[in-house]
Amino acid sequence: MTEVTDRFSKTSPDYAEHRWGYPPKMMEDLVGLCPDRSLALDCGTGTGQVPAMLSASFEKVIGIDQSAEQIQHAHQGENIEYRVNAAEDLRFLGDASVSIITVGTAFHWFRQDEFLREARRVLKPGGLLAIFGIRAPSLKDNRAALESLLKEQIFPHIPTATNPGVQKLATPAGFEEVQIPSEYSEVVLKTADEIAGWLRTTSAWPRIVETGGAEGIITDLKARLAKVSPAESKEVVSSAYIRAFRKQ
Ligand SMILES: C[S@@+](CC[C@H](N)C(=O)[O-])C[C@H]1O[C@@H](n2cnc3c(N)ncnc32)[C@H](O)[C@@H]1O
Repeated sequence: MTEVTDRFSKTSPDYAEHRWGYPPKMMEDLVGLCPDRSLALDCGTGTGQVPAMLSASFEKVIGIDQSAEQIQHAHQGENIEYRVNAAEDLRFLGDASVSIITVGTAFHWFRQDEFLREARRVLKPGGLLAIFGIRAPSLKDNRAALESLLKEQIFPHIPTATNPGVQKLATPAGFEEVQIPSEYSEVVLKTADEIAGWLRTTSAWPRIVETGGAEGIITDLKARLAKVSPAESKEVVSSAYIRAFRKQ
């Protein structure tokens, strides 16, 4: 694992504390597409945001991540197991053994052809592959307030994806797209410290720390939030995108 592909190991405690999960309705709809509920596999699990949301619906959930630090800080649950394991090498699983594979905000980091080959092998016939991702948070009543900070100070430090996207790759890899709304949103209440914590979970953060800009960004963020709303907890729009596929 190189510095380029490992943008999370240095910030795992923050990731565990501040990276919030996905809109519950999205997970509910996804589970509804999956009649077999024996085993869910979450690839690029981070600190277990997705297993935490799936564990009530599946007999067993396995979360894998290439970063030992992320796994070390992962959310625990009785029916959740974690492994330090690359998404592209699922040899620890037998053919046709998995009900659903989920990938939350991680597919862009994978060697995608290899991952899709392995995903297809381990999924049961008709098993689901769900690729989704979180969008940057915005304030419900003032979307512009965080937008320029993110655009100018965070996004430039995030590597741009150079891959064609899952929809182009999934059909040739033996999957058929399943209908599910492509976007979900929820409003969550977050304090300025929690929003600052979320910024520290982005893949940009290790670079920002290296350049000495971290403190300035947090001060700027808190000043913007205070200006927009005096309330301690702010209404934050948390959105996610998703595509789902069934093994053919
Ligand atoms: C942005 S985090 C997403 C974590 C979690 N799924 C979530 O939704 O918050 C991306 C995670 O993918 C992991 N990752 C990146 N490439 C990977 C690979 N090839 N195999 C397994 N994990 C990988 C990183 O270590 C990191 O923990």
